[in-house]
Amino acid sequence: MCGIVGTVSDKNNIIPILLDGLKTLEYRGYDSAGLSYLKDGNLIINKVEGRVKALEQKIEKNSISHIGIAHTRWATHGKVNEINAHPHQVGKITIVHNGIIENYNKLKHKLKDKGYNFKSESDTEIAAGLLDYYFKKYENIDKTIQKFMKKVDGSYAICMLLENDPNTIYVIKKDSPLIIGQGKNENYIASDVPAILKYTKNYYILEDYEYGKITKNNIKIYDKEGNILKKQLKEYKGSSATSDKGTYEHYMLKEIFEQNTTIRKTVNPYINSINDLLTLPDLTKYERIDIIACGTAMHAGLIAKYLFEQYSNTKCEVFLASEYRYQNNFLNNKVLSIFISQSGETADTLAALKKVKEKNYDTLGIVNVKESSIARTLDKVLYTEAGTEIAVASTKAYTAQIALLSVLALSTAYRKKQIKEEKVNKILEEFRSINQTIIPVLENIKTYENIAKEIYQKNDIFYIGRGLDYALAMEGSLKLKEISYIHSEAYAAGELKHGTISLITKDTPVFASATNKIINSKTISNLKEVISRGAKCYLITDKDIEDENFKQIIKIKKVSMFLKPILTIIPYQLIAYYTAKLKGCDIDKPRNLAKSVTVE
Ligand code: F6R
Repeated sequence: MCGIVGTVSDKNNIIPILLDGLKTLEYRGYDSAGLSYLKDGNLIINKVEGRVKALEQKIEKNSISHIGIAHTRWATHGKVNEINAHPHQVGKITIVHNGIIENYNKLKHKLKDKGYNFKSESDTEIAAGLLDYYFKKYENIDKTIQKFMKKVDGSYAICMLLENDPNTIYVIKKDSPLIIGQGKNENYIASDVPAILKYTKNYYILEDYEYGKITKNNIKIYDKEGNILKKQLKEYKGSSATSDKGTYEHYMLKEIFEQNTTIRKTVNPYINSINDLLTLPDLTKYERIDIIACGTAMHAGLIAKYLFEQYSNTKCEVFLASEYRYQNNFLNNKVLSIFISQSGETADTLAALKKVKEKNYDTLGIVNVKESSIARTLDKVLYTEAGTEIAVASTKAYTAQIALLSVLALSTAYRKKQIKEEKVNKILEEFRSINQTIIPVLENIKTYENIAKEIYQKNDIFYIGRGLDYALAMEGSLKLKEISYIHSEAYAAGELKHGTISLITKDTPVFASATNKIINSKTISNLKEVISRGAKCYLITDKDIEDENFKQIIKIKKVSMFLKPILTIIPYQLIAYYTAKLKGCDIDKPRNLAKSVTVE
């Protein structure tokens, strides 16, 4: 989603720093880019629709500057075009902004009454107008920012340049991440630490309703009343976002193949013995677990629901964060709310978390990015060790989430005496030797490529399953949709004949996994029903089935239900990947999508 970079230096070298930062943030998804810098006392603004590369080409050759701000935009208000791209300049104010100004329409009318005219459809231009209005009124930047924070509803991480103030960048933050990096005679601003990691590891985190003034050798941060704050300088421990693709053609492929390592790394502290397993938080006092997340992370929650309910006899509900926020949540002290997020910045998940925190109920998180907003807000965090995930479509973060949730469910089942010690030890051994079961699934590439050849020209594809396999169908279908742009639907296998089977015609591809011995035969019967109507079925299973009615049977090794989802999702991930590749799609950066969804 939108990205921000800014810097002020004692040297005239900031343009490459801004471009480097924007390039690092590219993986988050964006549709236009822009930057603004001071050259010989004049403010230059360059903007483009499209990629940072095009922006780079637009900047006048040999331009030098000591102060500037830059942005990648993911459109929310107004079309994707150059006018709506950031920075926006109104009067004395030039800003880049992440987030959404919710009351921008009301503010726009008020500002128009005061004589302001706007060129773009963007809410950000209104924010610039409002800042300009207060600055002209108060002639004091602190008062201007404080008043702005009082009047604006919504989310914002703003980086601002002020006319006749050639040495300071101002920042304002609420509900959208923003950090300030400390360098040597050079300071930085970014929406995400990796954007400036090439230059510094040391940074301050801005919290909601804080604002800052940054010069080349001074960083001052204030609360909303204008009191100066003593903030803790942090050192970034994560890896750089621009990790190498190595020999892989796409980050997505690389990340799929990394899963063998990332799963192991994530569960490693808990799988050597039952004692290690019991270092996970004790959830036995809770009568209900609520899991709240978005997209793929929510799909990981569905896997956890199955495991918690079936094996630890703990009621578990899963909610989409965007819905949860506006529901009656029936919380009490016996409910634990678990939040799952790769980025740790998803706006809906963060808002839902804040709702639970305001009521003082217990929260636990499964988060990939350390020190992210969600991680910082939670009572307790368990980190997935997936490393930086660059491809927009989540793969290794998802399997790390389900691996961590699986051991958490396993430890709860053991603590509640719902599972025998011998069985727990066997499952822990399966986790320790996951190499042996996961590598054959990863290496079955020819099969996935052949399936991709059969489906890449189709318009509609179905994914079905029961129980855990239904949750996996949802994730498999999402992966295919987001990167190959083929429409697909996930259905509970038994539900198809209650309406949707009317869409099955000759050669409609239907994918299913059948990995649960109690309900396998039912799913297979549902597949036979669609085969009778002409569908071409692809089945993932650990069962020894030979049946020529299926177009393809993908075998996975027999493992416990705690590991099965991990093995089953990999064929779905790779089929989606090879299908998108055959269609020539932009696999790592699918259209309209963003890696970190920081708006609601
Ligand atoms: C799909 C995907 C998204 C994310 C969702 C939540 O491949 O990546 O559906 O899972 O946007 O993001 P996080 O996990 O960062 O909260």
